Amino acid sequence: MTRTPLPCLVAIFAAAVAVHPAPGQEPPDSRNLQVLPSDIPEDELTDTMLGFLQALGLPRRGGEGCLHCHVGDLERPRSEWDWSNDAKSTKLTARRMIAMTKAINEEHLAGLARRMAPEFEVGCVTCHRGRVDPRPLPMLLDSALRAGGADSVATVYRELYGRFFGADAYDFRVSVLAGMAAELAAQDDYEAALRISAVNEQAHPAEPGARRVTLGLGLQRTLDREGADAAIAEFTGMLRSEPPGIVDYSLLDGLGWRTYRLDRQADALPLFRANRAAFPDLYFTFESLTEASLGAGEISLADAIRAYQDWLTAHPGHEMAQVQLTNLQRRR
Ligand code: HEC
Ligand code: HEC
Repeated sequence: MTRTPLPCLVAIFAAAVAVHPAPGQEPPDSRNLQVLPSDIPEDELTDTMLGFLQALGLPRRGGEGCLHCHVGDLERPRSEWDWSNDAKSTKLTARRMIAMTKAINEEHLAGLARRMAPEFEVGCVTCHRGRVDPRPLPMLLDSALRAGGADSVATVYRELYGRFFGADAYDFRVSVLAGMAAELAAQDDYEAALRISAVNEQAHPAEPGARRVTLGLGLQRTLDREGADAAIAEFTGMLRSEPPGIVDYSLLDGLGWRTYRLDRQADALPLFRANRAAFPDLYFTFESLTEASLGAGEISLADAIRAYQDWLTAHPGHEMAQVQLTNLQRRR
């Protein structure tokens, strides 16, 4: 086992916490140090340990956080704790983590042909970001789903949101629960999907996107169970009942392309037509309807080219339409 000093680690940890113990203390030689340098001074060791607390989000007060890895008793003075004891598996893991972090910095990053300036190194915080458990949010939510269904997802999400929102720890953007809800809907579990989308809306009351996901799932369920006409009727109702800015072209457009890709083109075209009627001035509704109609064989290539030419007459210089027109003309 090499025991070279870890200037980088110590520097990162020391910078993260400010403690000022008396310098120049003699390090005791009875310590059970296997990866940290055996001659590390007491104050640097303390800084390193405090750095662990910070990186893993463990409490700093009263030595409580130290107990995550060390054997000790909060009722007894800390000088009597058994610091060199290796009984806790978390300490053994942490020891490997120190060695891993050192290897990343000294063997891998140090060997890069070009480094960022100033040199950026990996610390515990790079992966842990203030949490003991480094798993990202979608993975934790997926475990919760398997263990206890949509209710567990709601509980875990709210708990983590309450503790970590604003920290650089989890991705709480609308897209995470939206993605999970979409997956559940794809498995035909609309009940769980809508339940999870409701949690998303509660967490993001000011974001139209969160509400839109719920509306989209509702439309998708209606389409799957009752067909295109019922879904379009529901959409028309939404245009009237939802506050402005919520119902936009993306609802029927997304549903249309999903249906189209599932080889249900007969169902997809009415959705695109209804979207075009609802948002007649929007290029995207025109483009989707034209492309899908062409793909489904409902119109010919010549019809599609004429449609783009008409659009360009009404909207001279429209760049996206011009690009599509050129593409179609090449296919002739
Ligand atoms: C994330 C796990 C972890 C936490 C939290 C932690 N330590 Fe450690 N500590 C270790 C590991 C691992 C070693 C052994 C390092 C080695 O083998 O080189 C160690 C070693 C030590 C040692 C040297 C023990 C000896 O053998 O003499 C002391 C003292 C120490 N830690 C104090 C603390 C204090 C004080 C805290 C709380 C402020 C703390 N540690 C928090 C993992 C941790
Ligand atoms: C490259 C990413 C990465 C870095 C850097 C890293 N860790 Fe970890 N850490 C992980 C992963 C991944 C796990 C989970 C491993 C598993 O159990 O599958 C983990 C798990 C742990 C655990 C066990 C979690 C628990 O349940 O208590 C501890 C303790 C820990 N790390 C401490 C540290 C310390 C201390 C450092 C810095 C010296 C560090 N880690 C640096 C990725 C990292």
